[in-house]
This record gives sequence, C-alpha cells and structure tokens, in this order.
Amino acid sequence: MDLLDIYQQEIEHRVTSPSGGNIYDFQTKSVHAEASLYSFGCTNLHPYIAQHIAESPNTVSVLDYGCGSGADLLIAAQNHPKLELTGFDPCRQMITQAQSLDAHNTVEFTSKDPFSSKYDLILSNAAIHLLDDQKTIIQQFYDNLKPLGACILGEFVCSSKDIDFPNDHFVDSKTPLLFNNILQQEEFLNHFFDAGFEELEVLDRKIFDPSPNILKTMQNGIDSTVFHQKLKSNQFYIITIKALKKLPETPVGFQCHKCQTVQQDTMYRSLNKQVHKNLYNGLIDQKINISHCTQCNTPQFAAPFQIHDMQKQKMAFCFPKSMEIQSKQLHNEIITPYKKRLPHYEMQLFFTPDSFVTFL
Ligand SMILES: C[S@@+](CC[C@H](N)C(=O)[O-])C[C@H]1O[C@@H](n2cnc3c(N)ncnc32)[C@H](O)[C@@H]1O
Ligand SMILES: [Zn+2]
Repeated sequence: MDLLDIYQQEIEHRVTSPSGGNIYDFQTKSVHAEASLYSFGCTNLHPYIAQHIAESPNTVSVLDYGCGSGADLLIAAQNHPKLELTGFDPCRQMITQAQSLDAHNTVEFTSKDPFSSKYDLILSNAAIHLLDDQKTIIQQFYDNLKPLGACILGEFVCSSKDIDFPNDHFVDSKTPLLFNNILQQEEFLNHFFDAGFEELEVLDRKIFDPSPNILKTMQNGIDSTVFHQKLKSNQFYIITIKALKKLPETPVGFQCHKCQTVQQDTMYRSLNKQVHKNLYNGLIDQKINISHCTQCNTPQFAAPFQIHDMQKQKMAFCFPKSMEIQSKQLHNEIITPYKKRLPHYEMQLFFTPDSFVTFL
C-alpha cells in the first residue's frame, strides 16, 4: 500500500467519524470547530503563526505544505483574514475534504506543484517526515520563500538513528505514522542551515512515544525484543521550529579608526552560534560584521554587537575601536551583570577583530 492510499483511508475514516484536533487548545479549536476535527497535525502552530505575523506584518502569501484536510489553514484564515492562503497536499481526497470545509473559499487548496510562486511564510505540520528526501524539500522551501520569508514547522525527530524501522509496520494501523524516515534532530536542523537559512529556532520540543503504536502494528518476522529495546533507547520528539531565510541587517555609518574615512556597512546586532550558524561562519570568515575600510582596508567593528556560543559557553561583546576609552565602564555595565547570571561563561570585550576570532 502506498503512502497516499494510507492517507486516503485516513480521511475516509475521519469523515465517517469526525474526531481529532487533540493537538489544539480550546481557544484554537473554537476558531473553526469543524475544521479542527480534521487535523492530522502533531502540534499547535497557531500561537507561533500569530506571533510571527505580529513581528512581520508584511506577511501576505502563505503555503501549507502537506496541508491534509486544511485544519491549520482554515483556522489561520479566521485569525488572519488578510492572508493569501495556499494548501498543497498530494492526496486528492484530503484536498476534496479541505475544499468542502472551506464554505467561503478562503483558501486555495491544490494537489498541483505549489512551487510556481514564492511565499512569505511556509507552514508544514507532520508532513515532511514522510518524505524519503527531506533535504531536498527543505531546500525547496528556502528557494521558494521571498527574501525575508520564514518557515514554521511541526515535525517528528529522534535522538538516535541506531534503529531500522520495518517499512511496512503501518499496514494494519488506523493511525499510520511512517516512523522509518524520522531524522535525528541535529541532521534535520542541519538541513535548514545547509539550505541557507540564516536563523533557526526550536520554539518547542515535546517528548513523544510512538512505541505502542509501532509495536501494535508490527508485522511478523521482526525480532521484536531487540526492536523494542532499540525503540526504548531512542527518544522521540515533536519539535516546532521557525527558520528565517534572511535576518534583517542594520545599516550603519562609521569612521575608519585608522584613516578617518566616513563610510557605510551593514551589521547584525546579535548572533547566537546555535541559532545563526551560517552567519556565525560568515563572521569567522570575516565576511560579516567585520568591516574593511574602503580606503585603507583596515578590519574593524563598525558598530557594537554581541556573539553567543552556548556550547562553548562563551560570549563576546564587540565595539568600534573609538569606544575603547570607555572600556572600564562597558565592563561594569555589560560583563558584570552578565557574569552574575552566567558565572561559568567566558566573556570578553573586543575593540578589534584580530584577537576576537581566536577567542571564538
Ligand atoms: C500527518 S498528515 C498532516 C496533515 C496536515 N498538515 C494537518 O496538520 O492536519 C500528513 C500529510 O502529508 C501528506 N503527504 C504525503 N506525502 C506527501 C508529500 N510527498 N508531500 C507533501 N505532503 C505529503 C499526506 O497526504 C497527509 O495529508
Ligand atoms: Zn581606513
């Protein structure tokens, strides 16, 4: 049986006995009570969608990739009536059901390739773990976002890959989840950085135990004792992530500390190695936040910014060389209070890029 047959069965079953939407809180459900009965998602994305739209009010076009019968988009249409919403799902029956729930035609539901246009926001809830090639779809998300676009996704990931899932474990299941493609969290997140996303935040992470579901539906011929042990030693999570294609840069004017030429550059005010891996690497390569004077080529910091490496427990506070005379005051006002909160961290002020790159 192939994947789309399974989802066809799922939606046929759901139509005869509508229930579901147990991922939503009471408030979200009440926005579109009927559509919320048809959710097949793994987590409630709506609080994060609302927050993102408040922060990025220019968000207009939204795609839900693997939208199923449209619960998330129909709720979003009520919450944010100005959005242009597109829902893509390759399962025709899901799309038919979504259209019948959309009495006012608020959403364009389709089974056709959605990547002929570009979007401000791409959503996906419990869909891309089903794909054999998640790297490629994540790259397509990146390529089909507008320059300041974002992705908000809910997905399954795991802690270890030392497990072979039987490909057909779901055959008898009423609630099929194809666990065999679930990626290790780090690998999944790295696909976003490899695609080019500049910021990636894990907004929420819940532990999830698929083993009763898998064991219940396992086929003969599998050594279930070994399999069960492996399953138990692997931790499964439902994560909610937000990926920004590009961070807004701040333009800054500055005066070269060596030859005094006044000029302009762009800066990122705050970078976290785990969240802004691509920008962090750009900083190490001296491509971002280190300005080279257009006249004398001296490398320098054009404006203050902060770097945070949670793994190495290091923080660097960088300032233009002209601020070095205030270093004592900066130390008291910045390092001292931070040290109180994070005493085990290494923290330092920098006024030139040379020593700074070795500190990181
Ligand atoms: C667990 S359901 C989630 C549906 C929906 N996002 C929701 O929250 O209700 C997974 C969906 O992914 C769809 N799907 C399967 N293969 C897909 C593919 N290659 N690309 C996109 N969606 C796919 C299925 O048809 C199904 O509707
Ligand atoms: Zn200069």
